[in-house]
Amino acid sequence: MPRYAKAKAHANIALAKYWGKSDKELNLPAVPSLSLTLDAFWTETSVHFDPKLSQDSCLLNGEPARDRELARIQDLLDRVRTQMKEPCFAHIKSKNNFPTASGLASSASGFAALAAATSKAAGLPCDFETLSALARQSSASAARSIYGAFVELAVGIPGDYQLAAQPLQNQKPWKICMLVASLGYERKALSSTEAMQHSKHSSPYYSAWIENAPLYYQRVREGVLKNDLQQVGEAMEQSTFAMHACMLASIPRVLFWKPATVAVLDALRALREQAQVPAWCTMDAGPHVKILCEPQHSETVANHLHAIPGVETIFHCGPGPALSFLEES
Ligand code: DP6
Repeated sequence: MPRYAKAKAHANIALAKYWGKSDKELNLPAVPSLSLTLDAFWTETSVHFDPKLSQDSCLLNGEPARDRELARIQDLLDRVRTQMKEPCFAHIKSKNNFPTASGLASSASGFAALAAATSKAAGLPCDFETLSALARQSSASAARSIYGAFVELAVGIPGDYQLAAQPLQNQKPWKICMLVASLGYERKALSSTEAMQHSKHSSPYYSAWIENAPLYYQRVREGVLKNDLQQVGEAMEQSTFAMHACMLASIPRVLFWKPATVAVLDALRALREQAQVPAWCTMDAGPHVKILCEPQHSETVANHLHAIPGVETIFHCGPGPALSFLEES
């Protein structure tokens, strides 16, 4: 009997960054991280296990997955298949409502939705903790996309294959806005996985990053619990700039930024310091800038940044929901 399931997961952006692994085999993070799940960006994925299939296949946004993408997907399928009574091949269809692999966190929502749909189609337990640990082994940021709003992922103790993300306990509802200033949709030359391993092996600042990242995380965490935007914003900027400094000092250097990235950073600081608009930024392994502000300032910030050459689109996001399962359509 073919077995089918479909799931939807939302992307997340780390306010306190994960960068570096304590156990490469189990894909455990070397630092704790804390993220915001976004309402506007999501992935929907269906998994269909079928004994009649002679190989796995996968369509991503209607196109066959590239070899490397398929290999990562098959790693997850294989981990699930070891727990199935009658393992068989699967057909997967996945679609993002936002650009893939350009540094906009598509692997987070992608692997979260895949972990959930695969587990359900295989008839395995689908509690969020189990799904988060499964997703984490494919992409650590994906562990956080199982949950909604503010989510944390602890540092991984080598060997702990069960490590899962958790929703931030005692969080007060917070109407916060994340603007995503997208600077183009090219695929990035280096994946986050490659770039963080390269930092670990060649950046003289990697040990300083590992030492300091937990402090940024603590400050972000305290700030979120108090709904204190300034505290979150300042610690969030330290986290992202320290992470980028670490990769920039790698040999050869890793620099995801474009000239427009710097222009946006400068404009945002001017807006904050000269016009007293409280807004702070973060960046991932890509050129885009994500800005955290109160909803009442989002239009001002967006209009100001949209005028910068190289800024293509500004997406308005709020806190997003946890993973959900969908009916066949
Ligand atoms: C900069 O989760 O994509 O976005 O675990 O190797 O798949 P792997 O890495 P990934 O890295 C995300 C890095 C980041 C920061 C973050 O999301 O915490």
